[in-house]
Amino acid sequence: MSNSESLVIMPTYNERENLPSIIARLLVAVPDTDVLIADDNSPDGTGEVADELAAGDIHGRIHVLHRKGKEGLGAAYIAGFRWALERGYGVIIEMDADGSHPPESLPTLIGAVQQGADLAIGSRYVPGGRIENWPLSRHLISRGGNLYSKIMLGAEVNDITAGYRAYKAEALASLDFGTIDSAGYCFQIDMTWRLRQAGCRIVEVPITFVERTVGQSKMSESIFREAAVNVARWGFEHRASQLRSLFGRS
Ligand code: GDD
Ligand code: MN
Repeated sequence: MSNSESLVIMPTYNERENLPSIIARLLVAVPDTDVLIADDNSPDGTGEVADELAAGDIHGRIHVLHRKGKEGLGAAYIAGFRWALERGYGVIIEMDADGSHPPESLPTLIGAVQQGADLAIGSRYVPGGRIENWPLSRHLISRGGNLYSKIMLGAEVNDITAGYRAYKAEALASLDFGTIDSAGYCFQIDMTWRLRQAGCRIVEVPITFVERTVGQSKMSESIFREAAVNVARWGFEHRASQLRSLFGRS
């Protein structure tokens, strides 16, 4: 076990071709950070590739969490958060394995947390943030999702669905993971919303999101639907509780 202060959690499902290069870049970009690959028993053998990478790393910075089967991004991250908190990491990072999230931005993200943020979001929608090679359909879904969340939740976060982010361990530890049931990408909105409700400090730092060149996105209609329904529910619950406290019946 190394003595790193920070841990990158990287969920994988069928990423065997992407994993070696992204891990190599990460190890160079942040020499004092560990990585935990959380694989959902990928049929393409990503789990074995992860084991080989871990075995070949003389510094012991690569760790692998083998999960039983595909349970969604949210469940993989929660398992990773528990793993990280048990081991005392101070900064815990979420990052895709497909090359969309440049590891070269990690020092900035980690630095933002070390300077006092509870959550630092790697944002595409602040000045300096960019997206490369996305089809128009993904732009529309992403912009639409952020606008929808802003209207429903009133949260002033520009990239609330972003999957590249760093958390202060104490902020994560304050959450009750048992009540999080967001399986797909709305997990990101869920996490942001919970921390904001808890009064946590959230900052956005610009990143460049580069669409994958190998393998496939796991975005699906059911992931889309889950996000739309959950965000509406959280918004109504929030407004209802605001009304209750206005009438003194909280
Ligand atoms: N373990 C596990 N289990 N990993 C998964 C699962 C799962 O069920 N589903 C996806 N992943 C992994 C992928 O292997 C990849 O490393 C990462 O999660 C992101 O999945 P993609 O399928 O590449 O996501 P995307 O490019 O469509 O969406 C990205 O942008 C969204 C915002 O627009 C992600 O960063 C999302 O988190 C983000 O909300
Ligand atoms: Mn992707």
